[in-house]
Amino acid sequence: MKRLSIFLLAATAGAFVFAAIPFTAGRADDAAPPIFGGKMPAGYRDWKLISVAHEEGNLNDLRAVLGNDSAIKAYREGKLPFPDGAIIARLAWSYVPSEENNKVFGRAQSFVAGPPTNVQFMVKDSRKYASTGGWGFAQFDDGKPAAVVAQDCYSCHVPVKDRDFIFTRYAP
Ligand code: HEC
Repeated sequence: MKRLSIFLLAATAGAFVFAAIPFTAGRADDAAPPIFGGKMPAGYRDWKLISVAHEEGNLNDLRAVLGNDSAIKAYREGKLPFPDGAIIARLAWSYVPSEENNKVFGRAQSFVAGPPTNVQFMVKDSRKYASTGGWGFAQFDDGKPAAVVAQDCYSCHVPVKDRDFIFTRYAP
């Protein structure tokens, strides 16, 4: 019995050490820590609307782009680059026809937001994310952080470098 508990103790301690390795390794080799500590920024769903978009093709979604106060202020004042602390969120939902609405219109013409697909964020910290235009990139699937390569996100945003890497224009 004593042997068994010693064994269990050793096994548990081992598991702890093992579980701790990826965490310490991530810190030790200076890999970028997950943005927002792996959580979606609080209150993002209540941020103000910048604009909307619709993608066809494989994505076939409807999207809304929202900004925190700092991002909205910069947009409204037309100030570039965005200040540190600005966060822009891109929410997306699948693009689905609405039978309910179509019945009212008397013909097929209505499309609405279906189930959510994912949420992406760009957060400005010009020092921390200097290698990606001063923006940190994050994606959440079902509220959980997705493994993204910031350089891949960034490289596609480079064509709009003169607008501080942000595609979406403020919709009045
Ligand atoms: C294939 C090119 C491409 C890649 C890769 C890409 N983006 Fe974008 N992104 C766009 C385009 C184009 C828009 C504007 C149109 C739209 O919303 O679909 C956009 C819009 C955004 C926006 C709203 C702000 C803006 O620039 O308009 C955020 C936030 C965003 N992307 C985050 C990300 C993140 C995070 C990643 C990596 C996981 C990523 N993007 C990868 C092309 C890309």
